[in-house]
Amino acid sequence: MRTIDWIDGAIEIIDQTALPDKLSMLRLESHIELISAIQRLAVRGAPALGVAGAMGVALIAADSRYTSDEELIRSAAKSLLEARPTAVNLSWGVERALREIPHGPEAVLRTALEIRDAELANSLAMGARGSDFIQDLIQGPVNVMTICNTGGLAAVEYGTALSVVRSLFDDGALGTVLTLETRPLLQGARLTAWELKQLDIPFHLIVDSAGPFLLSRGAANIVLIGADRIAANGDTANKIGSYSLASAAARLAIPFIVVAPESTVDMSTATGEEIEIEDRGSSEITSFSDRRTTPEGVETMNPAFDVTPVELITALITESRVVRFDMGESLGVN
Ligand code: MRU
Repeated sequence: MRTIDWIDGAIEIIDQTALPDKLSMLRLESHIELISAIQRLAVRGAPALGVAGAMGVALIAADSRYTSDEELIRSAAKSLLEARPTAVNLSWGVERALREIPHGPEAVLRTALEIRDAELANSLAMGARGSDFIQDLIQGPVNVMTICNTGGLAAVEYGTALSVVRSLFDDGALGTVLTLETRPLLQGARLTAWELKQLDIPFHLIVDSAGPFLLSRGAANIVLIGADRIAANGDTANKIGSYSLASAAARLAIPFIVVAPESTVDMSTATGEEIEIEDRGSSEITSFSDRRTTPEGVETMNPAFDVTPVELITALITESRVVRFDMGESLGVN
């Protein structure tokens, strides 16, 4: 089943807010509905957001209120790309689709569908390349620690880091997976655990703060994460908590691998310092299950992402290459 698709003139997504209780689809017929779905994280994950961005422009371009006015289309698309600021794929998808506006709504849709198909192929390629690379790096069973959700739900199907896990499993090389629950929205506990169960892949769910300690006890011999934006120097924005795992992994000489499509590499951002980090406000961390967990009026900081400096990253695996940062390789021109 695809996380996001274009069906009969509208976008259909798996509603990720309903998982793991219910697997249900949402039909989005306007870019306004799409913006709300993105902000609620009904659709999320970098590659899925790239497809959503491009399909969102296809919705705008096909809408008779916008069709004849390029300026109106561009301003609606701007509000779409601003729905979430950190994952570069969203603006990348929007901008690629916008280039087709002069050629009409069919051309825009064609591009959106091409992006969908390419991300699906990318996921499969990352899975195969990543599994081969890791089997060369690690002798014996590969025990993976991962954070957030980087599976099919974060892409069209298969995903990024979780696509590698899946290939390792299919190749008979996987020991187990330790998935961090991923506070505060629990993408690890709700979504990754759901996907791993569907796939019959063995795993343990752990709380976020147990990650570095369990690495020190040898519970995993590799960390695999996805990415929301990779700066030109290799600094990588991903779910909050990734940096703690990278710091621990570096101290313990455990490989720390980023798996992401080339569409997540942002050569126009020089370093991680320039990456805008979304703060999701206080309500996500001042209550739990609709019950307040803090005194009233507590001030919060709630960064949804962090930036792992390239010095802590062993390698980046994309659909087309492995970049060994630990051996001094760099992203170069892509
Ligand atoms: O806030 P989210 O759930 O959209 O965050 C997603 C992540 O951080 C993923 O790790 C990232 O998008 C890479 S996934 C393929």
